[in-house]
Amino acid sequence: MRIQVWDYRKEYDEMRDEILAAVDKVFRSGRLILGESVSAFETAFADYCNVAHGIGVNSGTDALALGLRGLGIEDDDEVITVSNTAVPTVSAIVTAGGAPRFVDVDPDTYLMDSTGLEGALSEKTRFILPVHLYGQCVDMDAINDFATAHGLKVLEDCAQSAGALYKGRKAGRLGDASAFSFYPTKVLGGYGDGGLVATDDADVAERLRSLRMYGMKGTYYAEEHGYNTRLDEVHAEILSLKLKRLDGWIGRRRDLADAYDRRLKGSGLVLPTEAEGNRHAYYLYVVRHAERERIIEELKARNIFVNVSYPYPIHTMRGYAGLGYKEGDLPVTEALAGEIFSLPMSPTLSDEEQETVCLAMEEILG
Ligand SMILES: Cc1ncc(COP(=O)(O)O)c(C=O)c1O
Repeated sequence: MRIQVWDYRKEYDEMRDEILAAVDKVFRSGRLILGESVSAFETAFADYCNVAHGIGVNSGTDALALGLRGLGIEDDDEVITVSNTAVPTVSAIVTAGGAPRFVDVDPDTYLMDSTGLEGALSEKTRFILPVHLYGQCVDMDAINDFATAHGLKVLEDCAQSAGALYKGRKAGRLGDASAFSFYPTKVLGGYGDGGLVATDDADVAERLRSLRMYGMKGTYYAEEHGYNTRLDEVHAEILSLKLKRLDGWIGRRRDLADAYDRRLKGSGLVLPTEAEGNRHAYYLYVVRHAERERIIEELKARNIFVNVSYPYPIHTMRGYAGLGYKEGDLPVTEALAGEIFSLPMSPTLSDEEQETVCLAMEEILG
């Protein structure tokens, strides 16, 4: 039995008839771009997050870049974020004209550590971009208090956390705007690229609708420099179908996480922490061990494949050397990068497969 972190084909086998019917509906509708399927999904997803407006775009990366533009970023504005994240968090800031500044992460949750914000603040700081990584929300009360005190705007990176809760509120309604990814692996994954910006602000929403369409407002006239970044009808229709199952899938992820917690307690692995007041969506079940490479090799030998998110902190990458950071600047992030990995986790992972993983871990860790 080969066990992977994720494989969409099991889901497709279950949902094939519904998905093909959804695709057929779009292809017969006569409208492939920005039609009823996109607006229906935008409304449904915004309602799900309890946010007033949803603007479907081509990817989570574009959702972040557009979100910053929609909130009024100007060239060289500094955006405080983390280095323990996916590259697109940082690339989107640069694409939007901003300058990323990093704070370290909390050693228990591996998420933005608000105590670092003061040290990262400068006269040019305009935004905080917290990343709800792995499916769990950052401690947003602390972030928002700091933002309010310093007149900063907050854009949430929710790419990994659709459906997560922070103190009873959904990820995506905790800042001024938020960015989601529907990349196929995500908690709500599409069958291709896709993303969405959510906001309560009607003016920001209107600007975002124009920015995703070459900066135009319904005519062939650009009001400002814009992009082509639209969620396709066919993807929106499939996402609407999948949205109805999202809470059930998160429930299954949480059950799997509970089972891992029980089975791997005392194994020598550092297990994930669910911070108080949070409902973790367990996009990834991230564990930590000093002998990561040995463990990964031994799992592979047993046909079990895991994932490392992320092995390289962004501030140490050649592509971002220009930001002026060096190794040693973010010690918690750097230590994590050498030790974390994620065990197989997806709603379609069976109990039997999970048990195989746990037995293998027991053997490997003695
Ligand atoms: C934390 C985070 N931010 C942003 C993105 C970008 O999303 P996308 O791949 O849809 O562009 C991703 C996904 O890779 C992500 O994990």
